[in-house]
Amino acid sequence: VEIRLATLDDVPTLVALRRAFSIEGDPGATVSPTFDEECLGFLEEALDGEAWWIFVAEDGGEIVSHVYVQLVDKVPRPTRDVTQWGYVTNVYTVPGRRGTGIGSQVLAEVTEWADELGLDFLIVWPNDESRAFYERHGFAQSGAPMLRPGDLGD
Ligand SMILES: CC(C)(COP(=O)(O)OP(=O)(O)OC[C@H]1O[C@@H](n2cnc3c(N)ncnc32)[C@H](O)[C@@H]1OP(=O)(O)O)[C@@H](O)C(=O)NCCC(=O)NCCS
Repeated sequence: VEIRLATLDDVPTLVALRRAFSIEGDPGATVSPTFDEECLGFLEEALDGEAWWIFVAEDGGEIVSHVYVQLVDKVPRPTRDVTQWGYVTNVYTVPGRRGTGIGSQVLAEVTEWADELGLDFLIVWPNDESRAFYERHGFAQSGAPMLRPGDLGD
C-alpha cells in the first residue's frame, strides 16, 4: 500500500468514495441529483488551493482509504508564534479492507505531517466505533471546545 497525496486525477474516485461513505452512514437517505457535480467542484477547488490536504492509500492502482485535513489559520498573536491547526475529516477505508491496518497507516502519515508542519493540534469528530482508532494515534477527549449546533443539528 502506498500512502500519497491526492491529485486532480483522483477526483472522480474520491467523489465515488464520498458517495459510498455517505450512503453507508445513512442507507435510507435520498441522494441529491447534483451531488456528483457539487463534490467534483469542491474537490477540484480543494486540490487547487492551500487549505485542504487529502491523504490516500493506493493499492494496485485503487484508492482503498483516505483522510482529509483542512488547515485552519489562527489569528496572529504578539506574544508567541502561532501557526495553524488541522480539521481531520472524511476518514474512510473501503469496507472490504477494514481492520487490516490501512487506515492506521494513513492516519500515521497525517500525524507525522502535522508534527513536521508544527500544527498546534488536530481535531476530529469520532463516532463510537472509531474512538479507539483515533486514541491509538494520540487523539484524546478534550473538554475545551464549545459547539453550537446549527438548525440541522450536526
Ligand atoms: C474508521 C476506519 C477509517 C478505520 O480504517 P481501517 O483501515 O479499518 O483501520 P485499521 O485497520 O488501521 O484500524 C481498525 C480500527 O478501526 C476502528 N474500526 C473498525 N471498524 C470500524 C467501523 N466500521 N467504523 C468505525 N471504526 C471502525 C476500530 O477502532 C478498529 O480497531 P480494532 O481493530 O482494534 O477494533 C474504517 O473502519 C472506516 O472507514 N469506517 C467507516 C467510516 C467511519 O466510521 N469513519 C470514521 C468517521 S469518524
